[in-house]
Amino acid sequence: MTRLIQRGCIKVDLAAVVLSAGLGTRMKSAVPKVVHPLLGKPMVQYVVEALSALKPGKTVVVTGMQGDMVRDALRNYPVSFAVQKEPKGTADALKSAVQKLRGFTGTLLVVSGDTPLIKPATLKAFLKLHRKNRENISLISFIAGGSHSYGRIVRKGDKLSAIVEDSDADEEQKKIREVNSGIYAIEAPLLKLLNKIPVNGSKGEYYLTDIVGMAVGTGCRAGAFLLGNENELTGINTRGDLYRAAQYLRDEIAAGFMEQGVTIMDKASVFVHPESVIGNDTVIYPNVHIEGRTAIGNGCIVYPNSRIIDSTIGNNVIIKDSTVIESSVINEGASVGPFAHIRPGSVIGKHARIGNFVEVKKSVIGSGTKASHLSYLGDAEIGERVNIGAGTITCNYDGRIKYKTLIEDNAFIGSDTQFVAPVRIGKGAYVGAGSTITKDVPPFALATSRTEQKNIEKWALKRQSKRRKR
Ligand code: UD1
Ligand code: CA
Repeated sequence: MTRLIQRGCIKVDLAAVVLSAGLGTRMKSAVPKVVHPLLGKPMVQYVVEALSALKPGKTVVVTGMQGDMVRDALRNYPVSFAVQKEPKGTADALKSAVQKLRGFTGTLLVVSGDTPLIKPATLKAFLKLHRKNRENISLISFIAGGSHSYGRIVRKGDKLSAIVEDSDADEEQKKIREVNSGIYAIEAPLLKLLNKIPVNGSKGEYYLTDIVGMAVGTGCRAGAFLLGNENELTGINTRGDLYRAAQYLRDEIAAGFMEQGVTIMDKASVFVHPESVIGNDTVIYPNVHIEGRTAIGNGCIVYPNSRIIDSTIGNNVIIKDSTVIESSVINEGASVGPFAHIRPGSVIGKHARIGNFVEVKKSVIGSGTKASHLSYLGDAEIGERVNIGAGTITCNYDGRIKYKTLIEDNAFIGSDTQFVAPVRIGKGAYVGAGSTITKDVPPFALATSRTEQKNIEKWALKRQSKRRKR
C-alpha cells in the first residue's frame, strides 16, 4: 500500500459521489429522503451545488428506489447517475458508483445526499488538509451534542483508527462525542477495499465506515479532520432533523439579510428561500414567505401573511397583507394587495395599483393603472393610466380557448363591467358601469350595454295599498 502513496502515484484529479439511494425509512415517506425540500429546495441539490464549488471532473449520484425522482430533482445539474439495485448499505452504494468511474486514479470525495448544509468552504478546507497530510483516506468529523446515532470516531493516540456505528458501539464508545459526518476523501487505489467489507450483522448492510479500520489495518494513512459544526454537518434522517435544519438555515438566511440592511420584524415567522434576494431598506413583516428565485428590490414593504414565489419585485413596491404573487414582475413603486393574487406571467407596471381582492392572471398592467377592488383580469393587456372599476371581469375562457382583452392607455372602465374576450378597448375610451362588452370600443368612445333605466312613479305606494285591501 505504501507504494501507492508514493509521490507521483496520487493523481490530483477529483471526482465526487453523492450517496442517495437509501430507503430513508426514518422519514416514513413515499418520496426519497434526499428529494425532501429544505426551504423549498431538494436536499440533494444543496449537496451537488456545494460539491460543484470544488469543480470535480465527474460527479456520480447513486440512486435507488424512486430513483427517477432523484434524477428529476437533478435534471439541470451536470451529474451522472449510478443505480444501487438494493439498499444494501453505504459501502454497497459507493460500489455502484465506482463502476461508473473506471480508470479513475485521483481523489474521490464521497458525501451523503442527506447532509445538505455542508458549506463549500468546509469541503475545500477538508480536501486541502487531506492532500497536505497525504492521507489515503480522510473524513470530516464534528462534535455532536445531545443524543444521536452518528458513527463514533475511534482514535489511537490522536490518529484515526476506526469508525464504530452507534448500533455496534459499546458503552465506552457511545460516550465519544467526536462523530463521523459521512463525508470522505478516498484515494482511488483504496476503493478496492470496498469488495472486502463484510456484511454487518446487526443490520445486514455493508457499512462504508468499515473501510477506515480496514485501511488503517493495511498500513494506510487515515485522517479525521474536525471541521465545521454540528449544524452544518447534520445528517437528515427524520422529519425532526429536517425541521431543525430548516430552522437553522432560515435563521442564517434572515441574519444575512439583516446584515445587508433588510428589516425583518419577526425572524421566527419569516421564511426566505436560499435563492431569493432582498434589497436594503426593505421591511419584511411577520409571516411572510419569499420563495424560489424571488428578487425584491430596495425600500419595499411586505406586509404580513404574504407569499411571493419566483417573482421580481422592483424598488419601493408595497405588498399589502395576505397577498400571493407567483412568477410575476411587479415594477417600481407599484402597490399590490391587500388580499390580491398575482398569478404566473403577470407584469404590473410602475406605480400601478392592484387592490383588495383583485386576481390578475397572465396579464400586463401598464404604469399608473389602477384596479383597486374586486376584479378578475386574465389574459389582459392593459395600457397606462387606465382606471379599472370595482368588479371588472375579463371573461377570457369559453370552455375551450383563452382569449385576450386589450385595453389601451387612459381608458376608463366603469364598475361591474364584463369584457367578453376577445375584445379591444381603444385609448381614452369610456365604458359605462354595469356593461357587458362584447364588441371592440373605438378610441375616445363611450360604450354602455346595460338596459336603460325605467322609473315607475309611485309603484311602491300602489303596492302597499293593494296589500292593505287584501
Ligand atoms: C451514516 C454513517 C455514520 C455517519 C452518518 C453521518 C454508515 C454506515 N454510517 O449513517 O457513520 O455518522 O451517516 O450522517 O455509513 N445510502 C445509500 N444506499 C444504502 C444506504 C444508504 O445510497 O444502501 C445513502 C443514503 O441515501 C444517505 C447516505 O447513504 O444519503 C447515508 O445513509 P444513512 O442511512 O442516512 O446513514 P446514517 O445511518 O445516517
Ligand atoms: Ca444519514
